[in-house]
Amino acid sequence: MLKPSYPFYLANTAQTPNTDLAVTDKYTGEIATRVAMADAKTIDAGITAAVAATIPMRDFAPYARQAVLEHCVQRFRERADELAMTLCIEAGKPIKDARGEVTRLIETFKIAAEEAVRINGETLNLQISKRVQGYRGFTRRVPIGACSFISPFNFPLNLAAHKIAPAIAAGCPFVLKPASRTPLGALIIGEVLAETDLPKGAFSILPAHREGADLFTSDDRLKLLSFTGSPAVGWELKAKAGKKKVVLELGGNAACVVDADQREHLDHVIERLIFGAFYQSGQSCIGVQRILVHASLYDEVRERFVAATKKLKSGDPKDPEVFIGPMIDEKEAQRLDGWIQEALSAGAKLLCGGKRNGAMLEAAVLEHVDPHQKVSCMEAFGPVALLQKFDNFDEALRIINASEFGLQAGVFTNDIHKSLRAWDQLEVGGVIINDVPSWRVDNMPYGGVKDSGLGREGIRYAIEDMSEIRLMVVRDR
Ligand code: SIN
Repeated sequence: MLKPSYPFYLANTAQTPNTDLAVTDKYTGEIATRVAMADAKTIDAGITAAVAATIPMRDFAPYARQAVLEHCVQRFRERADELAMTLCIEAGKPIKDARGEVTRLIETFKIAAEEAVRINGETLNLQISKRVQGYRGFTRRVPIGACSFISPFNFPLNLAAHKIAPAIAAGCPFVLKPASRTPLGALIIGEVLAETDLPKGAFSILPAHREGADLFTSDDRLKLLSFTGSPAVGWELKAKAGKKKVVLELGGNAACVVDADQREHLDHVIERLIFGAFYQSGQSCIGVQRILVHASLYDEVRERFVAATKKLKSGDPKDPEVFIGPMIDEKEAQRLDGWIQEALSAGAKLLCGGKRNGAMLEAAVLEHVDPHQKVSCMEAFGPVALLQKFDNFDEALRIINASEFGLQAGVFTNDIHKSLRAWDQLEVGGVIINDVPSWRVDNMPYGGVKDSGLGREGIRYAIEDMSEIRLMVVRDR
């Protein structure tokens, strides 16, 4: 299914100067294919080409940008099976989740195709006093210029798409560094973009070692850095980004509340909690990590959640019945296994799972976890969920806010007043009522506060970051 090797894309053109990067099948550990790697000179050439494409991209008409994005939608539909299997191999993503990501990729490009032709401005009433009588103001958005993107391993297609598609819609050329462990998704997007008439230099997609990749962050010719990945790396990059605008989509330790009035909805609640905690083996920034259950329902939710967790099939992600595949590598699984053991030594109770075999970690459920334990207060990014009891709703909101992170939170409640209170008080980028924090559709504003990041993705919001307001004032004569 995979080709023996994949080129990188420099200034819209496929190039294979080497095949230095081995991409493994994350389940078997075997080398699945090889990929061309860019060195610092190549990255510099990509940035130079992107800067040279600034005016041609600005002048590339909105309907032409839309046509490029529509071409992508059509090609992704045609190649959907290949794309899903590629994710399954390079990321170890269960095939069900991989198909879901391809569906989202198509939607992300479709939204961008629509937005490309509705980037508008405003007419301003400037006449705030006699002094400015006879002046009129108008704004429009102009593309910010060459952008730098760094995308993560956990959604190799759709989180690259969340940078690429709005850049094309906004009229910005870009250079993108995909995650070295999962570069194939972004490279296939590159292959499809190379079929279009985007101006020369509009895109470069360049897998690179971290050392050579500093230019993606530090080069002053780039006007915006958009990074998705771990909080530690994201904030470090921001410190090196100089004058660029910076958008950071980082992680979290997402929480979900199950309030006292949910007894009649428990089938739905448990099904959604299982999905939120364990889809793609918990490797999502909005995976459910902390589950807060009202004391009156706690024992029942615990019993049912643990029973459902034990039923999840783990194994080969290519098997459509498999829910839990490998983590991205053994080191990550060891890291999370270590955090679980530390919490257990500090008094936590393991309710199920937690056994590790290489990169495979059984879905684990814990209770009585000290909130200062890493598995609670840091981003677990793996198949682990912690259960905790609360007595009143406001206490649950306080527990959620007692975190350095704030990406999304979920609240199961029938009470509109409590929903509004959660929306008012939770320090997060998004509150999802009657579903898990892991819920995302690709046109909504998505991003976090506190250590979870800066700025919002979700096409329209990304286009705002990738463009600037330009004002014109006209004086009557
Ligand atoms: C993420 O893990 O940052 C993104 C989650 C999603 O797009 O569903």
